[in-house]
Amino acid sequence: MHDCEERNKSFSDKLVGFYFDRIYNPVYDSTTAQSSAYRSLQKRSINKFEFEDGDSMLCVGVGTGNEIPCLLHRERRIDIVGVDMSERALKRAYRKGLEMGREIKLLNMDARKLQFPDESFDKVLCLHVMDFIEDDEEATREILRVLKGRGQFVITFPFKREGIGFGVSIMKDNLHQNISSQKYGRALLELLAQLGVGIVYLPLLLRAKQRSYSRQNLEMVFEKLMPHDFQVEEDAVYMDFIVYGSK
Ligand SMILES: C[S@@+](CC[C@H](N)C(=O)[O-])C[C@H]1O[C@@H](n2cnc3c(N)ncnc32)[C@H](O)[C@@H]1O
Repeated sequence: MHDCEERNKSFSDKLVGFYFDRIYNPVYDSTTAQSSAYRSLQKRSINKFEFEDGDSMLCVGVGTGNEIPCLLHRERRIDIVGVDMSERALKRAYRKGLEMGREIKLLNMDARKLQFPDESFDKVLCLHVMDFIEDDEEATREILRVLKGRGQFVITFPFKREGIGFGVSIMKDNLHQNISSQKYGRALLELLAQLGVGIVYLPLLLRAKQRSYSRQNLEMVFEKLMPHDFQVEEDAVYMDFIVYGSK
């Protein structure tokens, strides 16, 4: 792993890095990543790509690498590079790749300043990250910059999340799904996991600007940044928009 410009980070970036390194990411795999709602969003987002053998793929905000097994299980062999600002999360992601016999290139990097030349990747995925980035438009611009011409991107953005209301709604949905398929142990596990998510999310609720998008403002942002074509799809369960398309 390679540490880019660690010394030049601002105090607030260091604070955010500390939060993700020490609080959010250590419990992520046993909280959010356990939820059926999140896993369904992950699958739906990844299924938007049409992979070719040898595709280069960048995962922005790869975190603990939950998308890695899902991507490596595809029929096509793709070369994955993952970036995140949490060094500890990247170590976990690296292990997930190794468990599947692949050494994934993982770099400590800010999504708002991707250290890659223009048009470097065939595919870029940014899953469940924009919730946490203050300058999300800059990150979106960077994603489109490093994407090759005709390359495909998938980025998720949260909508209508109102603090506790969002957590309760996810919790209810998970419970409903598991109980109706008589998975009672799973229902309990997800309930506990969701309570854990609530606790680690508390510091995020203190931010000045809460992340929330409407279809219209996303369309405005993407029209301005001019990808070749894009679509905005709603995931009503996870309350995310999946924006996907090609450059
Ligand atoms: C919820 S996790 C998502 C991880 C993974 N994509 C997934 O779906 O499981 C969000 C990740 O975004 C990372 N992150 C937040 N702000 C970032 C930034 N400015 N640049 C790079 N990564 C960032 C956090 O460290 C965290 O690992």
